[in-house]
Amino acid sequence: MKNDLISIRDLTLDQINSIFKLSTLLKKNKNKFSKALFGKTIVLIFQKPSNRTRVSFEVGMYQLGGNSLYLSPAEINIGVRESIKDVAKTISRYVDGIVLRTFEHKNCLDMAQAAAVPVINGLSDFSHPCQALADIFTIKEKLKNLKNVTLAYIGDGNNVCNSLLFAATKIGMNITVGTPKGYSPEDQVVKYAQEIAQLTGSKIKITEDPLEAVKGAQVVYTDVWASMGQEEEISKRKIIFKDFQINAKLLANAASGALVMHCLPAHRGEEITDEVMDSKNSIVFDQAENRMHVQKAILIKLLKG
Ligand code: CP
Ligand code: NVA
Repeated sequence: MKNDLISIRDLTLDQINSIFKLSTLLKKNKNKFSKALFGKTIVLIFQKPSNRTRVSFEVGMYQLGGNSLYLSPAEINIGVRESIKDVAKTISRYVDGIVLRTFEHKNCLDMAQAAAVPVINGLSDFSHPCQALADIFTIKEKLKNLKNVTLAYIGDGNNVCNSLLFAATKIGMNITVGTPKGYSPEDQVVKYAQEIAQLTGSKIKITEDPLEAVKGAQVVYTDVWASMGQEEEISKRKIIFKDFQINAKLLANAASGALVMHCLPAHRGEEITDEVMDSKNSIVFDQAENRMHVQKAILIKLLKG
């Protein structure tokens, strides 16, 4: 049976660790894997813009000896020009894997169900699993042992926040989420993360106080206040989120030398200041680089599986 990567909820700790192990090998020795996916092709069906996800998947696939194709809504306007099911069934006859970036998470589930080839969620409104895997891999690279490490996610309880809650609890890190009232992650996400945390010993805290959220954290993470598709809400959100900006003053409450993370793209001057983003503790571009290494591992696992 084929495997997909739709949400980190579907991965076991062993699978996550095995992705990380292969990611480390791929990062260390690019040439050794230059034929790993020789003759294979993936298609990227993207309904939203992308820099990192598109480029890292396309270059990653090329480095593994395979090919990739990018299809924007102008070619495949899923659900409009053709149903998801028909797109999935047709594309499965040509390619070895599909990366889907879409709005509704259900589109990923429907695509995975109808496709005969592995489907990878390249971001939906609900989750961004490749991002969170690369993020935890990056933290592990920097801090080695994640036990008793706290990641503070500050800002909107969005897709990235959801995936970090799943990934951090599965790996056994502590996670604190600080959002304005009304912007916390969905109850079902927190409930699931709490269940996992009970098994792995992670501690979870959800708060509406940004100071309390960053307090003592070794890693401070943020994302845009308005995600793709919510652009018209930005002026309202700039007011609601103003105390949740990652700036030097807020960061002073975190552990000394706390690492700063952002999935990017960043809206400098909104959720993060230039000073913090460009500081020596910022690892945002290491995160961006690791997207490629981790996704190459995911591609090998799913396409060779
Ligand atoms: N972080 C991330 O997924 O970036 P892109 O939207 O540019 O792909
Ligand atoms: N939350 C952001 C993440 C971008 C990588 C969005 O969905 O636009």
